[in-house]
Parts: sequence; structure tokens; C-alpha cells
Amino acid sequence: QAGYEFVVVANRLAVNRVTAKDGSTGWQRSPGGLVTALAPIMSSSGGAWVGWHGAADETLEPFDHDSMHLHPVPLSGQEVEDFYEGFSNGTLWPLYHDVIARPLFHRHWWDAYQQVNQRFAEAAAKVAAENATVWVQDYQLQLVPQMLRELRPDVKIGFFNHIPFPPPGLFAQLPWRHAVMKGLLGADLIGFQRESDAKNFQRAVRARLGFYIKSDRVFVPWEDDAAAPLEGFTADPARGTAPRQLSVPAEGTFRTSEATAFPISIDTDRIVELSNDPKIISRAAQIRAELGNPDTIFLGVDRLDYTKGIRHRLKAYDELLQEGKLRVGKHALVQIASPSRQGVETYQRLRDEIELAVGRINGEFDTMGHTAIRYLHHSYPVEEMVALYLAADVMLVTALRDGMNLVAKEYVAARRDGTGVLVLSEFTGAADQLRQALLINPHDIDELKAAIVQAAVLDREDEQKRMRSLRRQVVSHNVQRWAEEFMHRLHEL
Ligand code: G6P
Repeated sequence: QAGYEFVVVANRLAVNRVTAKDGSTGWQRSPGGLVTALAPIMSSSGGAWVGWHGAADETLEPFDHDSMHLHPVPLSGQEVEDFYEGFSNGTLWPLYHDVIARPLFHRHWWDAYQQVNQRFAEAAAKVAAENATVWVQDYQLQLVPQMLRELRPDVKIGFFNHIPFPPPGLFAQLPWRHAVMKGLLGADLIGFQRESDAKNFQRAVRARLGFYIKSDRVFVPWEDDAAAPLEGFTADPARGTAPRQLSVPAEGTFRTSEATAFPISIDTDRIVELSNDPKIISRAAQIRAELGNPDTIFLGVDRLDYTKGIRHRLKAYDELLQEGKLRVGKHALVQIASPSRQGVETYQRLRDEIELAVGRINGEFDTMGHTAIRYLHHSYPVEEMVALYLAADVMLVTALRDGMNLVAKEYVAARRDGTGVLVLSEFTGAADQLRQALLINPHDIDELKAAIVQAAVLDREDEQKRMRSLRRQVVSHNVQRWAEEFMHRLHEL
């Protein structure tokens, strides 16, 4: 079969549509780290990227861009509602992020999720060469590995989950938990951000499917490769029956799937290079001047998402202003909240709450010349982001739960001169690697306040010692290395 040796399958295509001044449209490579990491592998191995192009009810022919072959998967308006906004972001996203928001379980969303996953699997099966490697990305496509295995038993399949995998007790709420685990187990290698995510998945598989697991390897019975329910392998906690198969299965009756952690990172070189660019350095100085050259600039950069702990951050900042521990003019907070998933009601409500809080705080503390919180509901190009990182003395990452949090790593990469303080939630994947940050529990408002104050007055020596150690981590572990390690392991198996 002709086709591509390396295929990436992700909900989003690797390019964004851009409109030029004359109204004509074209494509531009997405700025994200994932695309940056995989693009070189794609062009050297003749790769294809299968993904949704972001518009509803539009079918596009495959096309080439940047030596990548792009294979757009269409979604109808109803599928955008039921598969993307519904099951992916109304069920899985909140469930996998510790039910910070209540997950909704709708059977017609699940139907759409299966249908769209099948479409992605078929698209991948169509473009993959014989014995190709297919790498499936993220929670929107958890059924694709098994669906693809059934269509194309010859290909090697990897899966990477970019978001957390919940503790088994929460995952158990999902009415379709068996089907999701089976979908993932279709992959030869299942990657997670943190060790704890990989362990959560393994514990769910052991408890619910009764599969034998040793050294991260799940022994998957061959007979269960079919789509049939897992009779006999399913524990029934309601009746107190134990899972059947917890001992080593007989030779030849199983294949294995490995579930392990591969913490993702950023395109460190690119961020470092931008942080050396004189235009960006002078833009950073300009930002500081525009804010009135305060002593300390605090920065928050998030998609406007309830997992990011923006409200907790605002509450802590508000109380510090009330108590006079922070002063407008001397201190400034810049909060970038990039628009996200605006069709989902929880996101609309969150935006209202945050904008109400910012308006109230600014109304109370602003002076004619200075604002307490500079709030921007926009997305910015990476150049402007790096200028902001350079301008900010303190980066605030207060997520209640986050698979990794790449903003924390980008801030560190941009701080070439070894200054800058990172306040980092322990509930991010990044906290496993960035141990020298000021680690906080964002639910503990007093602890968060103390860290904000500490960050503003930290002595230079302590600040630089911490930043040097953080930089060593981010410089030695970039996203290219992440992709190489994953691919290396996948081919070893
Ligand atoms: C997270 C997810 C990605 C997703 C991104 C943006 O990082 O892990 O899979 O693409 O958010 O969200 P969106 O819904 O706009 O694709």
C-alpha cells in the first residue's frame, strides 16, 4: 500500500487558516510546540497529518504545506456541538481535570464521539503506508488506537494524552469507561504527562478490566481485541466480584501495550532565540514603560479555562490590595486570557465571572494614571508573548489541574539573564520537573498570597539560584527530545 511512513492524528490540523489584507485566505503552520516538534520528523520521513481544520460543514481536499501532507477531516455543525463541545469538552475535559466543573454525561454526545473517532481512524488507515507508524494525540481521540488497529493491524500505534488522566474513582463515573480503556489499549505505547497519570490509567485497567500489568506493560487478551464487551474480564464492584484475570496470562493469548510517562516540553531554542532578539527586548521595555515602570510586574497567561485557577489568582491579588501589601503604581498585574471554547456554556459563565471580578477590583483600586489589573481577552503571537515574559518579574501559574502547563516552561526559557520568579501550582505536570519554582496549592489562598508577596521581595541571589536550576531543566528537556524519546520507545517495543 502506498502512503506515508509517519502519520500524526490530532483533533486540530497542524495549520491555521489566515486571511490576508486583500481578503484571500491561506494556511500558516500552527505555532504550538507539538507541531514544531513533529514537523521535522514529518518532512524527513514523508509524513501526513490527519486533523480537523476548525470550520464546521466544510469538506476540504488533502493538500501540502511546509513539506507536510495535510489530510483535513470534516465535522458537521452537529458534530462540533456533540463531539467537540459536547463529549470532548463538556464530558471528558472536566472529568479528567478533577471534576472542577461538573461533567455532563449525554448518550447522544457519546454516539457522536464514537462516530467521529471512527472517521479519524479511517482517514489515518487510508493514508498510512504498510507498517507505518501512527501517532494519535489527546483525549478527543481515545478510541482511534483500537479502531485503527482493527482496520490496519500492520501499523505501529502510539497515543499521547496531553491532559491529566483522572484517579480511578473519578474515571469510574464515565458510563463508557470500558470502551475508552479498550480504545486506548489499541496502542502499542500510551504516553502520559506525569507518572501519576500513567499509574491512574494502570489502576483503572487493573480494577475494571482485570488485566495483568507488570512494569508499565498491560497484557491485553487477544480475544478482547474485538469490539464486543469485556465479559469475564470485567470486575463487578457492585456485586463484589473480583476481576478474573490478575495472573500472568498464557503465552500467545495476549499482546502488550505499554502505559508510561513522557512529560512534554517546549521548543526551547526558539524561545531563547526570540528572547535575544533586539526588537523583542525593546518591546519588553516598552511594555514596562506603558505600565508606568512599576517595581514589580506580575503576569498570568492562560486560555480562559476554569482549570487555570484565574479566579483564585484574582482573589489573592484582590486581598493583597485590600490589605495594602500590594500597591497600584508600585505593582501591576497583567492577565492575558485567550479566548477558548466559547460555544461551551461553562466557559461563557467563567468569562462573565472573571470580567466581573476584574472590573470590580479595578473600579476599587485604579487611579487616574494606573490600573490594578491589565486584563486582555486576546491571543497574541509568540513574539509578543516573549516580550511579556521578558517584561514580567513574576509569572503566576495557579492552575487547579493542568496536564503540563507550557507557559511555565516558556517563561523560564525566556529568562536568559537568570532573573524572574515562577510561582507554580503543584497541580500542574510542570511542577514535577520545575522543583525550584515557588510551589503552591492554589486552593490555599493564604499560601498563594504569601508566595505572591515572597516573589515580589525575593532576594536576587535566591531568585537567580532558583532560575538557573529551572533553566537547566528546560534547556536540557525540549519538545524535540520528548518526541524522540517517545518514538524511540515505540520502535523498541
Ligand atoms: C489543550 C488540549 C489540546 C487542545 C488545546 C486547545 O492544550 O490538550 O488538545 O488543542 O487545549 O483547545 P482547543 O479546544 O481550542 O483545541
